[in-house]
Amino acid sequence: MRKKVDFLVIGSGIAGLSFALKVAPYGKVLVISKTKLEETNTTYAQGGIAAVTYKPDDFKKHIDDTMIAGDQLSNPDAVRMVVENAPEQIKQLINWGTGFDKTQEGKYDLHKEGGHSEFRILHHLDNTGFEIQRALIEQAKTHENIEFAEDIYAVDIITQHQLGEITYRWRTDVECYGAYVLNEKTGKVDTILSKITMMATGGIGNIYQTTTNPTIATGDGIAMVYRAKGIIENMEFVQFHPTSLYNPKERPSFLITEAMRGYGAILKRKDGVAFMNKYDARGNLAPRDIVARAIDNEMKNTGEDYVYLDVTHKNAEETKKHFPTIYHKCLELGVDITQQMIPVVPAAHYLCGGIKVDLKGRSSIVNLYAAGECSSTGLHGANRLASNSLLEAIVYADVAAKDAAEAVKKIKHKTKIPSWNDEGTTHNEEMVLITQTNKEVEQIMSNYVGIVRSNLRLKRALDRLELIYRETERLFDDSIVTKDLCELRNKINVGYLIIRMAMKRKESRGYTSRSTTIN
Ligand code: FAD
Ligand code: SIN
Repeated sequence: MRKKVDFLVIGSGIAGLSFALKVAPYGKVLVISKTKLEETNTTYAQGGIAAVTYKPDDFKKHIDDTMIAGDQLSNPDAVRMVVENAPEQIKQLINWGTGFDKTQEGKYDLHKEGGHSEFRILHHLDNTGFEIQRALIEQAKTHENIEFAEDIYAVDIITQHQLGEITYRWRTDVECYGAYVLNEKTGKVDTILSKITMMATGGIGNIYQTTTNPTIATGDGIAMVYRAKGIIENMEFVQFHPTSLYNPKERPSFLITEAMRGYGAILKRKDGVAFMNKYDARGNLAPRDIVARAIDNEMKNTGEDYVYLDVTHKNAEETKKHFPTIYHKCLELGVDITQQMIPVVPAAHYLCGGIKVDLKGRSSIVNLYAAGECSSTGLHGANRLASNSLLEAIVYADVAAKDAAEAVKKIKHKTKIPSWNDEGTTHNEEMVLITQTNKEVEQIMSNYVGIVRSNLRLKRALDRLELIYRETERLFDDSIVTKDLCELRNKINVGYLIIRMAMKRKESRGYTSRSTTIN
């Protein structure tokens, strides 16, 4: 099957859907998602979305907090653009039907999270992402120019490479003409030709054993762009959320929102001793990298598998009112959070780097944009400030849409694109190999490329991964493509990029912490 659209949007989270809504007046849009439309990292977001709303907050404070959390490695132009555009984009979300909680006086009920000097997190209970995703899907479904396709898996973007014209001399000469996509129902790889392609494929959490991310987050967009010779950057900065619920049987790990520490919850050891003040003057509300490292260190020192988050000193009714999802989830597992401390561990949560984009959301590949978690805008530097991710996604989708709406007028569909070539491939009968290799990749990344790294560990990870890479590429060349095989291949590519970039960065910045001990 072959299809032509003006805009192909790969991903149905906040980045993909808000871009789709904004370009829809300028042409036909196809939004594809690899599973169901609502199965996105966006849906799982809890804490909220940061924006300056009321005094005494101001743009300078939000900019400073973002730069400090990012260990001064953020791009100041990107930080300014995102912070200053935040209020307008929040209005846009509200106009599209998103409900944010209000106080009795009718003002937005703002939360505070780690690294924020002011209360500035707009939220909907403790399930903000679910509310945003709901509103965006409802809104996009009313637009006649937007078509949705679920269970459609993007395998690779189409560039000169597939035409046999490897004419580009520089990596900036590569052009994108659309994507090859696997239709999960027919098992066939179809060709989607587009004038503009938006990569909005989200995160990479599943390359680790413990992650807050749903299973869709396997770094596909980053791997596709890397294979197409696009520029990828800052992959070493993988953010580990300090507090996911300790429950080894569960994947993804359930998040205990940072807003709970903003509300007054305290991190404690099993013996009841609070420990954050010895690591940072900001205590329980220090930026995430510091808190995650402190927990890692406490766990290593005590030999325990987790630490505790204690909210029992707060008013029980207030706790239930603010955190209903967390209250019920923990209760299901036998923990009444108003009476008992919550067992928590750090978990892979967010990738600060990814596909390099400029201030208009353009990647280094012509006619390919990227937004949301798969992109690297420079906003987060070495460590993302809490609740800046949904914000980054919606601001960059907006600037990208404005640029793409103009650009599309001058672009023609590329002709003579060959269909997907599966000559000589057969059904892979050893599916179990894919499952096993997946586990190996997750183990390698968790054991050697986690919160605290060393040259020795990184080298060991690279050596192990190289062997798996060669085996998997052989399997890919010989097999009829399946989603599982493509995801494995992508996870290996992403793991490789993280390790190589972590090896290049010699100093400890944000989340590339080199092995040191704090006592
Ligand atoms: P996603 O929402 O993840 O969407 C990705 C889309 O890409 C999906 O539709 C998927 O199907 C599709 N896709 C992927 N690969 C392919 C492929 N090969 N082919 C076709 N489709 C594909 N951030 C905040 O700012 N505030 C918070 O409170 C917050 N809380 C969080 C809590 C949790 C538990 C998690 C996991 C994250 C949280 N984050 C939070 C981070 C934030 O939710 C994400 O970074 C953001 O939602 C990413 O949006 P996105 O549009 O880039 O990607
Ligand atoms: C949380 O609610 O703690 C997650 C917020 C985020 O990832 O920004």
